[in-house]
Amino acid sequence: MSAAARWPAPQALAALRERELHTFEGAHPRAAALTQQSELHWQGGVPFHWMRDWPLPYPVFVRDAVGATLHDVDGYSYDDFCLGDTGAMFGHSPPPVARALARQSALGLTAMLPGERVVAIGKALTAHFGLPCWQMTQTATDANRSVLRLARAVTGRSEILVFDGCYHGTVDETLVCLVDGEPRARAGLRGPPADAAAHTRIVEFNDVAALAAALADRKVAAVLCEPALTNMGMVLPQPGFHAELRRLTREHGTLLIIDETHTLSAGPGGYSRRHGLEPDLLVCGKAIAGGMPCAVYGMSAATRAAIEAMPANAEHGHSGLGTTLSANLLALAAIEACLGEVMTDAAFAHMEAQAFRLESGLIALAATRSLPWHVQRIGARVELGFGAAPARNGRESAAAMHPELERTLHLYLLNRGVLLTPFHNMMLLSPQTAPAAVDRLLTHLGAALDELAR
Ligand SMILES: Cc1ncc(COP(=O)(O)O)c(C=O)c1O
Repeated sequence: MSAAARWPAPQALAALRERELHTFEGAHPRAAALTQQSELHWQGGVPFHWMRDWPLPYPVFVRDAVGATLHDVDGYSYDDFCLGDTGAMFGHSPPPVARALARQSALGLTAMLPGERVVAIGKALTAHFGLPCWQMTQTATDANRSVLRLARAVTGRSEILVFDGCYHGTVDETLVCLVDGEPRARAGLRGPPADAAAHTRIVEFNDVAALAAALADRKVAAVLCEPALTNMGMVLPQPGFHAELRRLTREHGTLLIIDETHTLSAGPGGYSRRHGLEPDLLVCGKAIAGGMPCAVYGMSAATRAAIEAMPANAEHGHSGLGTTLSANLLALAAIEACLGEVMTDAAFAHMEAQAFRLESGLIALAATRSLPWHVQRIGARVELGFGAAPARNGRESAAAMHPELERTLHLYLLNRGVLLTPFHNMMLLSPQTAPAAVDRLLTHLGAALDELAR
């Protein structure tokens, strides 16, 4: 039994949750009424079912969101540490992006043709991430789907490998988990066309021996990974892991795809640039265009050459890559502004300073209450873990989680104007997040812990 499962006492937790639910319901009559009305025409009362994943009887309805603050229809304002689960990591409506969108919105939204600005955008992507060649999609999910397809096409291999606890969007073959040493489709996956795990190998993050064994028969087209797991708590790579991952993938002719969608929090070139990783393909979505639907994938010169050496597709539009609205004019305007004016060293310096403030505050909060917890950070992304030691892989990270405690703490914070993602204890710091907002989070979290300890 984990330390987290022993504390707090279940009755104290249930009582606090009950009280906080009551508070929420009393304070959000407009959201309750809107939910009732929207249930007539939206499945689950929302246009996208994840919006019901918050620890609430019905969601907060947004009135507006600017910078690091969100206002709801019931008149409350929130310090936003969720930031759209990373899409708004650079703050809501970053002014350069908002201005670029306003200008472009009167000049064409989509044309399936490039504009002059694509030259500058390609150059900026290379300057940020180091890879020489790029393509755009609408979402990180679609970018991951594309790079897996390309990896299979250029290697002529069907298998892929992911790490247990990963998340790369709704790509069927990555929605797998490790059960008794074997890949299994995740229980929640709806309607896959075939066994989603049929062509996926899966090993624990940081397990070099298992990785070597899984790649040895040279049937794996690509390893798709985040440089650190960020979707199952936070699991950092152990010293030497990335060097071994790169060595083994090269040795076995397997392409290395790094998904930077969340780890863009590490800096303007993501974790890979900051730590000198050398992916063959790199994916980044969500925040890359300041919150506009947009994602990119980059490739090394060798990968580009291999892709371009493949026979041209005789049937135009039937490559299985891309969708009509990819690289539309609005997305191009947004990504240009974001890369050039938002993802700056100065912005990251502020984000990281606030993240450090939060990390230090959380460590102190746990220490003064003798809670054996730990805190992890990747640049502007902070994660509070309920295990005594940082997890080394997805299994350990999952074992340390305490969903009921998470839900209760998130609800408590929300009732006091602090918004966290509904998933584990991930907190994001934007260029507009003020030190005072960090301090408010810490004060309210401390108060919740003290109530639970009584
Ligand atoms: C690492 C990673 N890659 C890809 C995705 C998919 O992003 P999207 O839902 O925008 O397609 C996510 C979503 O959380 C993610 O965390």
